[in-house]
Amino acid sequence: MLTAEENETLCRVGPDTPMGKVLRRYWTPAFQLKDLPEPDCPPIRVTVLGESFVAFRDTEGRLGFLDELCCHRGASLALGRVEDCGIRCLYHGWKYAVDGTILEMPNFPNSTFKDRVKQPSYPVRESGGLGWVYLGPPGTEPPFPRFAWSDLPPDEIEVSEMILDCNWMQVQEGSIDSSHVGILHLDTLAVSDPGPRTVGSFKFAGEPWDLGLAPPGERDPRGFGVERLEGKDGGRARRRGVGWPSNDNGPRIEVEYTPFGFHYAAIRDVDGDPGKKYIRVTAFVVPYTAFIAGSTGAIMVVPRDDETCSSIIVSPVPRDAEGRPMRGLLGRGIDPSVWGPEPERRRLRIPPQDREAMAAGRSFAGFRGGNRIQDAAVQMSEGKIYDRRKEHLVPADLAIIRLRRLLLDSVKLVEEGKPPLGLGEGFDFTRLSAASAVVDAGTRWQDLVPGNQGRPAEARS
Ligand code: FES
Ligand SMILES: [Fe+2]
Repeated sequence: MLTAEENETLCRVGPDTPMGKVLRRYWTPAFQLKDLPEPDCPPIRVTVLGESFVAFRDTEGRLGFLDELCCHRGASLALGRVEDCGIRCLYHGWKYAVDGTILEMPNFPNSTFKDRVKQPSYPVRESGGLGWVYLGPPGTEPPFPRFAWSDLPPDEIEVSEMILDCNWMQVQEGSIDSSHVGILHLDTLAVSDPGPRTVGSFKFAGEPWDLGLAPPGERDPRGFGVERLEGKDGGRARRRGVGWPSNDNGPRIEVEYTPFGFHYAAIRDVDGDPGKKYIRVTAFVVPYTAFIAGSTGAIMVVPRDDETCSSIIVSPVPRDAEGRPMRGLLGRGIDPSVWGPEPERRRLRIPPQDREAMAAGRSFAGFRGGNRIQDAAVQMSEGKIYDRRKEHLVPADLAIIRLRRLLLDSVKLVEEGKPPLGLGEGFDFTRLSAASAVVDAGTRWQDLVPGNQGRPAEARS
């Protein structure tokens, strides 16, 4: 439970808010590079952290990230012309370079005005299919977090973005929430690892129902992989080679701070094998990025404003047995009708819930489209900004408690003029990983993710 003030602090992200100031101290994934595919292509309007910007690619291929509204009299530069190494405002023709320098002022020619005034501009980097910006005070940029997939060429990386109509913390808390996976996502588990499961007294047959995820006979490559099996008898997981070998819905959560934020293990009993544990390790890079057990990419949750956010999955394109790239997997099974009309083609509308299939026991949650739709449905159901005075946390929520603590401690640090936690100075982000494994009961989970170790970003309270 949080106080009303803590909840406000956690959720509000505008430039003058405490959390807004913290978030601006990290590199922020703000837009998709495929939206600016070539020099002098149309600019895009970007809403992030409660502010509006224009992003464009100039004639030389350089990216510019500027305040959206022209510093003359405020017309949107997103309407502007991108030409001859700059972006030109339509209204009176002022033209700006990628760093905000005024190149031309047709309605005030030959003046020195342009030597004194600049359009506010921000550092921008291209990495992992995304444009990353730094919106903090000049000169305070932390090291750029380069992950294992950051330098892959665009055709080897897949980016999938959903805009959700709720505060970003609701979605972020879902990214590091292990205990819902074996419950809310039962319909996904029934596709990747069919078979009976229980939720409390509810018995679920676990026959595939959300078939768009993987047509019959084809295993969904996004399924919950068990990557490492140890000992002689891996039980059900060993027989299937992939799967979710546990009906234990009350995982023990152990959290450890790291240079990038924290990682945690969700530790579950293994069905029929008391000598084993099913361990899922998730790594959380403050403030946006989670590396989730069993997946090769990462999920980022970025606030657009206080009441909308982008949930962005970045994933290296997997290859089939013949080495051919398998594109389009991130959106598989999602009905096209969930997306908004242009220009909101990434805005998610929750599809209807199939109450009939739920009543018949064929589906647990009734939402087709896999984990992302199920997650979005419950997270948006909490309202635009959930009032955390009303919640009741349990031990399975430990990672969520630590996430909030890390962020709220960072608020205090930044207010004191210090850097926030988890900037990862000197840390090699390319070694960072998540893990999913069945191991002997005594195994240290930290040994599954050796690249995550380092001097931790200790929380203070
Ligand atoms: S408002 Fe942009 S040039 Fe006048
Ligand atoms: Fe989920």
